[in-house]
Amino acid sequence: MRLIPAIIIALSAALFAPTDAIPLLSRQTQDAFKSVRDTYAFALNVFNARTAVNVSASAFYRTPANFSSTTSKPGDLLKFEQISRSPLDAQYAYPPSLTLYRFMYVSLDINKAPVPATGFVLLPYYASSKVSAGNSTTKIRSVVWTHGTAGVTRDCAPSLRRSLYYDFQGVFELANSGFAVIGPDYAGLGSDTQFDYEAGVPHADDASYSAVAIRKSPIAKLLTYEWAAVGHSEGGMVAWYVNEAEAERPVGGFLGSVPIAPSLFTAVPDNITFTQPNATDGLPAIVQGSDPAPNATGQIPIPVDSGIYYTFFSLQSAAKLNASINPETYLTEKGKVMHRLLNQGGCVLAGTFITAGGNTSELFLDEINDITAVWSQRVQPSGGTRKLGGPMLIVSSVGDVLVGVDGSAAAGRGNARANPGSRIAHHIFPDLSHDGIMYGGKISYIEFLENAFANNTALLPKVGYEETFVKPVTATFGTQLNFAL
Ligand SMILES: *[C@@H]1O[C@H](CO)[C@@H](O)[C@H](O)[C@H]1NC(C)=O
Ligand SMILES: *[C@@H]1O[C@H](CO)[C@@H](O)[C@H](O)[C@H]1NC(C)=O
Ligand SMILES: *[C@@H]1O[C@H](CO)[C@@H](O)[C@H](O)[C@H]1NC(C)=O
Ligand SMILES: *[C@@H]1O[C@H](CO)[C@@H](O)[C@H](O)[C@H]1NC(C)=O
Ligand SMILES: *[C@@H]1O[C@H](CO)[C@@H](O)[C@H](O)[C@H]1NC(C)=O
Ligand SMILES: *[C@@H]1O[C@H](CO)[C@@H](O)[C@H](O)[C@H]1NC(C)=O
Ligand SMILES: *[C@@H]1O[C@H](CO)[C@@H](O)[C@H](O)[C@H]1NC(C)=O
Ligand SMILES: *[C@@H]1O[C@H](CO)[C@@H](O)[C@H](O)[C@H]1NC(C)=O
Ligand SMILES: *[C@@H]1O[C@H](CO)[C@@H](O)[C@H](O)[C@H]1NC(C)=O
Repeated sequence: MRLIPAIIIALSAALFAPTDAIPLLSRQTQDAFKSVRDTYAFALNVFNARTAVNVSASAFYRTPANFSSTTSKPGDLLKFEQISRSPLDAQYAYPPSLTLYRFMYVSLDINKAPVPATGFVLLPYYASSKVSAGNSTTKIRSVVWTHGTAGVTRDCAPSLRRSLYYDFQGVFELANSGFAVIGPDYAGLGSDTQFDYEAGVPHADDASYSAVAIRKSPIAKLLTYEWAAVGHSEGGMVAWYVNEAEAERPVGGFLGSVPIAPSLFTAVPDNITFTQPNATDGLPAIVQGSDPAPNATGQIPIPVDSGIYYTFFSLQSAAKLNASINPETYLTEKGKVMHRLLNQGGCVLAGTFITAGGNTSELFLDEINDITAVWSQRVQPSGGTRKLGGPMLIVSSVGDVLVGVDGSAAAGRGNARANPGSRIAHHIFPDLSHDGIMYGGKISYIEFLENAFANNTALLPKVGYEETFVKPVTATFGTQLNFAL
């Protein structure tokens, strides 16, 4: 779930007509792709069961009359609502003791025009005593959480998901660790405007201006003015772009960021190969659990992630940004069916199901490579090379086959070479998957946040770029992510 493979950066696609107006399979004389449509329908049911709010039926997600696409200012607050203890709260699933809000605010699109954007805020039960940076003692430390690939249609917004999309993989852990989690959806997910997948600069605007908007909300006095950003995958890339943006157009109070497994289209070629560190733990052999495996876990099995839906999302993004790109030009007949289905919603979950066991050559034509480079340059123009606004901790895993550690290392080294003041540390873990690194890397990112808010400069990244291999305490840790909320 939730990422974007560096290798599948190909693609692009454009909506040449409103997709819901196109009868699916109108060109087929027989039902050649019934199994694809059946799988999609099954996945959509699972997706709907995990949805708290229907975006097309919701009044909250409609753009209000006091938004103006010409005069609204980024960071202006448009709506702010409390979810916890409201009737709607029954639809959500998050730990007791936390307080949940949702909000709509003004951000900027890829052309720097004002757009409506939405997000949530999740507050911990009480404020930690560890804050000392700036003027914000005794307040709750503000962290902007930038989520990974959720999908490309409005229904994919984390604030619509029952467990806010990242549940214990991210947002619940942050809140339970004492941070106020400000979770921008990214404009166009939730809000009624164009979403540009993997677009670093506008997503960074969504992140920074969400922090600004919350300063104007009824809960502002509870939170620190200072803030840091943490994100994973697509959102790891955003956490990197936020750090650059806070050097270029600071909104104030920025303390640093943690890109975790960032899907950064790095502009820095480098020849890096990693040898996985020795994870031998020195423990005696321990007998393995002796009960037989049960026949069923009771869970709906989520298929193995082929990563292929990222290519559909990227194709769609490329087409939105260039009206002369017709995505269907780059798709096989089966690919066209999947493309049309995914444009109707269902997000990453539906994408995972319908592309499971597939391969790119049965879905995409080779010509897709003609538009990939232009698209990736358009959505991520800096490639991670700009000056940083604060210290940065990169967290990644050698075992992540979707976002390779070598790209993050090349980008980190390249940034430090280009900007003598950059303070970058890179914690590299063995054997964890793209999702697994969110769990295994938690101690690293929480310590970074605590040191940043405590202004403990001695424990924050030093000037330059430093890599640390993190050795797990046992060599027998679990590697499966086999629960879903
Ligand atoms: C969501 O709302 C739309 C518009 O009201 C409706 O057509 C659709 O069936 C709803 N979806 C679900 C899953 O209830
Ligand atoms: C927009 O209107 C809402 C509702 O009246 C109000 O709460 C909000 O402050 C307004 N925002 C701006 C930027 O005018
Ligand atoms: C952090 O500490 C440094 C000195 O170590 C000081 O210059 C800086 O102003 C402090 N920052 C904040 C936000 O308190
Ligand atoms: C905290 O400090 C910032 C500047 O560092 C200032 O803009 C802001 O108004 C201050 N907030 C409070 C509540 O004093
Ligand atoms: C990477 O390796 C290639 C081929 O060996 C070489 O041409 C290139 O200069 C190397 N790049 C760097 C940044 O070392
Ligand atoms: C890994 O660690 C074990 C125990 O310390 C040692 O015996 C072994 O040689 C190490 N392997 C490598 C490849 O370093
Ligand atoms: C598990 O499956 C086996 C083989 O199908 C069957 O014999 C056994 O009764 C099943 N056990 C349970 C607890 O359902
Ligand atoms: C838009 O796409 C067309 C078709 O691939 C291409 O020829 C053109 O150069 C693209 N325009 C831009 C601005 O990328
Ligand atoms: C991928 O799909 C193509 C076209 O259907 C097929 O020829 C090829 O064997 C498949 N490759 C794999 C690895 O399954």
